[in-house]
Amino acid sequence: MELRIDRQALVPVVQQIVDALADWLRRGEVSPGMRLPSVRQIARINLLSQSSVIEACERLVAQGVLATRNGAGFFVAATGAVQGQRDLPWSEGVERQSGLVDELKLGCGGLPESWRETDDLSYAIRQVSRTDMAGLFNYSTPLGLPALRQQILKRLKRLGIEVDESRILTTAGASHGLDLIVRTLFKPGDCVVVESPGYSMLFDLLRLHGVCMIEVPRTPRGPDTEALEALLLKYKPRGLFINSFYHNPTGSCMTTGVAQQILQLAKNHGALVIEDDVYADFHSGPGTRLAALGIDDNVIYVGSYSKTLSSSLRVGFVVASADVISRLAQVKMISSMGASGFSESVLACLLASGAYRKLVQRQRQRLSTGREAALQVLEDAEWEVFGKPAGGLFIWARSRKSDYAQVRTQARRFGVLLSCPTAFSPSGQADDWQRINVAYACDPRARAFFQATARVC
Ligand SMILES: Cc1ncc(COP(=O)(O)O)c(C=O)c1O
Repeated sequence: MELRIDRQALVPVVQQIVDALADWLRRGEVSPGMRLPSVRQIARINLLSQSSVIEACERLVAQGVLATRNGAGFFVAATGAVQGQRDLPWSEGVERQSGLVDELKLGCGGLPESWRETDDLSYAIRQVSRTDMAGLFNYSTPLGLPALRQQILKRLKRLGIEVDESRILTTAGASHGLDLIVRTLFKPGDCVVVESPGYSMLFDLLRLHGVCMIEVPRTPRGPDTEALEALLLKYKPRGLFINSFYHNPTGSCMTTGVAQQILQLAKNHGALVIEDDVYADFHSGPGTRLAALGIDDNVIYVGSYSKTLSSSLRVGFVVASADVISRLAQVKMISSMGASGFSESVLACLLASGAYRKLVQRQRQRLSTGREAALQVLEDAEWEVFGKPAGGLFIWARSRKSDYAQVRTQARRFGVLLSCPTAFSPSGQADDWQRINVAYACDPRARAFFQATARVC
């Protein structure tokens, strides 16, 4: 029984054994009452200590998944407690997982756990727990923690976005920010422009609120401005949603020229611009945000710390005009009594100490190395790349040799989980382009998968 334990992962080894055994049982290759291989055997095959295997099995006994019989080893429990719905880790825009523990999430939208760094975060959590009683116990203020908003202000200044602190509203991630914007500023039947391909959860959110979407093609330089102008004339949409830098899923960045044109078009047609910049901190070079050109001219800017620091802390923010911020803050308080003061205090601590800045520098460096290697692997496997991204997490690419069905078959063969073919289109149209997460692309399973797609005839 091979358990594939990852010693670099942050998940403790015993927990990995528990998960792997539970998955093995769930796959149904066993029947109730069946005896497991001996602890010694499991430990030997997987290079584990016997005590770790015993601890994992004892936990499964406590869960009712396994049973023990007077020192005769571990048996599959008669009740089969692992059956039923599992709350699988969830990932936006990715195929449904098969339930195997070790699938490679090549198409997923975040950094792998093994890339996440815990030391500075743990330190900040301890610091807040010891010294900040309000952060630990109280509701936060409607706009969010002042110390955090001051730090966000500095970040915005570096991007050329000139506002004061009262124009920043903290949220539980960018998703919460987008939700507040859609439910406060739009009504069912309103029409908005979204990018295609684009961010799948935004499409779901708009659908949820009955807002109609019209699609503008995303080019490697940003949204297609000619097409946008035609859409503005024809449909008179009330808003434009644009993911400006390291766009999900294409990895492309909007150029300054395109940003200027979009803003002008939006002004001419009286449309609100919502700039989603959740991948901003992976970007360090020159670039122009829509918000830097006109935060007072109907531009709303959305940011987040999910991608770099932690998706679990759930901290994001919205920047907008004073009037919009006050309306969003009201809805934020009515719907959630504010965001998490604790998470905000932890983040403020990391930003103030400079630990966050150094963390993102290391991530950028690592992503840059990964991206170069991934582009080479794709070139060798004769994949077509949509505009070579200069940074960020994603490469948007498709095989020149295999169609989607063949690519999917090869992915299954090598334990690779792809992005969902319909996820990135607002109308749910299937696509053979794939979102490749560069942090996963150089894993041996991904390399083997890409090579196999080149051999299909
Ligand atoms: C373009 C885009 N916007 C917003 C989000 C949501 O981010 P958060 O985790 O901060 O809610 C994501 C997450 O994948 C994203 O890709």
